[in-house]
Amino acid sequence: MPDFSPLEAAARVASLRREIEEHNRRYYQEAAPTISDQEYDRLYRELQDLETQFPELAAADSPTRRVGGAPLEEFAQIRHRAPMLSLDNTYSEEEVAAFFVRLEKLLPGQKIETVIEPKVDGVALSLLYENGVLQYAATRGDGTTGDDVTQNVRTIPSVPQRLAGTHIPRLLEVRGEVFLPKAQFAALNEERNAAGEPPFANPRNAAAGSLKQLDPAIVARRGLGAIFYGTGALEGADWQTHQQALGALRACGLPIHEKTWIATTLDQVLAAIHELDAVRHGFPFETDGAVIKVDSFAQRDAVGFTAKSPRWAMAYKYKAEQAETRLRDITVQVGRTGVLTPVAELEPVFVSGSTVARATLHNEEEVARKDIRIGDLVVIEKAGEVIPAVVEVRKERRTGTERVFTMPATCPACGGPVVREEGQVAIRCVNTACPAQLKRRLEHFASRGAMDIEGLGEAMVELLVDKELTRDLADIYQLNVAKLASLPRMGVKSIANLLSAIAGSKTRPLWRLIFGLGILHVGVTSARALASHFHLLDALMLATADDLQRIPDVGPVVGPAIAQHFENPGNRAVIERLRAAGLNFGEHDDHTAQPAGGRFAGTTWVLTGTLSEPREAVAEMVRAQGGKVTDSVSKKTTYVLAGEEAGSKLDKAQKLGVRVLDEAEFRAMLAE
Ligand code: IVH
Repeated sequence: MPDFSPLEAAARVASLRREIEEHNRRYYQEAAPTISDQEYDRLYRELQDLETQFPELAAADSPTRRVGGAPLEEFAQIRHRAPMLSLDNTYSEEEVAAFFVRLEKLLPGQKIETVIEPKVDGVALSLLYENGVLQYAATRGDGTTGDDVTQNVRTIPSVPQRLAGTHIPRLLEVRGEVFLPKAQFAALNEERNAAGEPPFANPRNAAAGSLKQLDPAIVARRGLGAIFYGTGALEGADWQTHQQALGALRACGLPIHEKTWIATTLDQVLAAIHELDAVRHGFPFETDGAVIKVDSFAQRDAVGFTAKSPRWAMAYKYKAEQAETRLRDITVQVGRTGVLTPVAELEPVFVSGSTVARATLHNEEEVARKDIRIGDLVVIEKAGEVIPAVVEVRKERRTGTERVFTMPATCPACGGPVVREEGQVAIRCVNTACPAQLKRRLEHFASRGAMDIEGLGEAMVELLVDKELTRDLADIYQLNVAKLASLPRMGVKSIANLLSAIAGSKTRPLWRLIFGLGILHVGVTSARALASHFHLLDALMLATADDLQRIPDVGPVVGPAIAQHFENPGNRAVIERLRAAGLNFGEHDDHTAQPAGGRFAGTTWVLTGTLSEPREAVAEMVRAQGGKVTDSVSKKTTYVLAGEEAGSKLDKAQKLGVRVLDEAEFRAMLAE
């Protein structure tokens, strides 16, 4: 890192914070990132380093504060400026009609424009921004007073710490919903299951559970999102309609619903409700209804409130789609960490947009609690619309032939012993050589989110383990043509493809390897945090549980799990063999391998802005000519190659008098 004077550091910190918030906005709100994850990590780390080096620059609204912070003892209480009311709910279209007729009566002769928007199934949240700076975040609580969950909400990347734009209200109490996206919900339950913890019943419970976590580091890992749909107290803005308010919130950088409907007649309201129902399964978050709201604030004032809810809005709830089917069998699956999970094998049935043939039964207690027997007619429902669940048993339809399920006393895959750990509902196979566990571990290692080895999916893993060609992760790198040719249906081309995919995985970034190792509780976010903190796998392996716990994004549960993983001699042996196979054990670094000589020998470069080719490709051209490419501009920089929309690095170069080249000049130098 270049040496900054305190003044330079302050300027750099301010510009990094702006830049990172902007990238957060592009990533989370527009889903259109303009820089790679690696570049983002670099900016983030530079900011973190500067904040450590210059503690006086620390600020509560820094993007680095999104993670970390000390665990709380309990939540303080916050009194809402304006009460948080609830909505009248209905499952019937007649009641929606009655609501509309009532509005027409209360607003005689007036045109009534309504907005219809998705009802997100999450946890209601109220944020207070003063002069654009986030002051606190509170749950609904009893509507008057809620829990202060500010520390946790600061970890949600789509919640700005500071509002953007030029029209920022002096005081804005903004209302919205925190949710756990469906994909994160599925991953979280899988992780909980692997750890022997009870799964969350649906994304709403998971979001509520996450928000009420006392340790913000755990919250940060969950991947919560937020969406805003209204305001409470407001000063310094004069919004006349809901649509105008939503537009203004969006301009401030607050995420709002992308799609809403406008309706001025009852027929249009009902049509909008149906349209929303048809598309909502494709949303990344769980929805359970439509909210119909009068657009004009003057009309809202005119119709007013009942004791607990506004007369100008109503929630129409969709019935959860259910289906009846036969439970053919209950099988037992062995997960990556050895947890045994009973699985319902169903007669295939169509529900909420897809055919369902299997459903997780979570654990033995759950099967007993619901008294689910093999052969039962059962009702299934998609919890969170992603994972099917057995919600009910039609006991009155039993014939007496149904069989009670018992968990096997030994592992169904390896016959090894199973144990129930104290205080846990999960039963675990403790044989580390269990082939079923090995298969899941290999699948995880090779999966797209981890080492991304194409062609090494479930079926191939099955073959490799059954034929005893792979006994651990490191054996993947011992595969060769002869071994693969012994497998059925493996032609020359598929062998070549698989071997080249395996070879390609050796240079994956460190975080992918850390994630791929399948350490208990270590998800993508913690793997990234660990890689960017330790830079080298060896450094991570040497860290104690104590060191690890102090890292934001790791915390008191994950830290010891990591240390334990690396203490295990079997795991260490595999890691040594991965090293011997030539896997990348360090962070990718731009300062490596420079050929001697070349026309840029002895020069140091910084690339910034948008170039005509990916920045990494241009960096390669510089390195190929013996130049060194670094991240930040200092007095030691020889050239700054500035593409379009170059920002702070260009400013710094100009300030330090470093030679700035545009791309044409650079190409000319290359051609010299
Ligand atoms: S408007 C005066 N809009 O549903 C109440 N609420 O029972 C204003 N919710 O507590 C609420 N999506 O947590 C509104 N688009 C949306 C919503 C929404 C979800 C939740 C919210 C509220 C509950 C109402």
